[in-house]
Amino acid sequence: MDIIVDPTHELMSQSAARIIADAIRAKPNLSLLIATGNTPIECYRQLSAIVTSEHIDTSRLVAVQLDEYVSPENNSNAPSLFDWMQRELLQPLVIDSGNVVRFEMGQSMPRATVDVYDTKVGSIGGIDLAILGLGPNGHLGFNEPPSAPDAPTRLVDLTPESLISNQPYWDDSQIVPSQAFTAGMTTILGARKILLLVSGAHKNTVLRHAITGPVSDLLPASQLQSVSGNVTILADNAAWGDIERR
Ligand code: PGA
Repeated sequence: MDIIVDPTHELMSQSAARIIADAIRAKPNLSLLIATGNTPIECYRQLSAIVTSEHIDTSRLVAVQLDEYVSPENNSNAPSLFDWMQRELLQPLVIDSGNVVRFEMGQSMPRATVDVYDTKVGSIGGIDLAILGLGPNGHLGFNEPPSAPDAPTRLVDLTPESLISNQPYWDDSQIVPSQAFTAGMTTILGARKILLLVSGAHKNTVLRHAITGPVSDLLPASQLQSVSGNVTILADNAAWGDIERR
């Protein structure tokens, strides 16, 4: 596991953006699994600045959604992680809609949404680079505890903890739905490279357990230890605290 600890969220975001930009330059048709949430937003802003100033070609970049809420279809004010990803990354990087893999809602059965997603991820050869945040409960995507390392792409019930931690992303009229689709642990752990971005003192304990504690379904992020050769942790000082480097 590579570990990069930067003094601030902004500097951590710069480090992450540099890694992603270099990966796109090295492989223009990179497949990128994309987390939303507060942690990676600054990284995405810095990435789009680098892409613009260094004229990096994003025309073949493939963006893959990590997770999505399931909202009633007739609610146009429903919180949407796709809209967030669109605003923060797809539009700034000018990613062609034909190069986006998302959870397609409106299928008759959740199974169909999952199958379409998995087939598309399979057809692009899986994930080259996964950008992940760390849930306060140790989730990756919406692989809520407990999630086994072979947990597939699926519809999940969100835990009370995730409902509470996600609500501040939205305004008062937008209630976080109780269910979501998530890329499975298999997709995440199968990524050829994983960046885990962690910011803030409130993430220190869960980060410590994830990287120094036992590997457990009860803390899905701990399963990154089993693919540690592919993982880079990017943390700010507040999140890292006094965790011992091994
Ligand atoms: P955050 O969310 O980046 O907003 O802290 C991370 C997550 O819940 O996965």
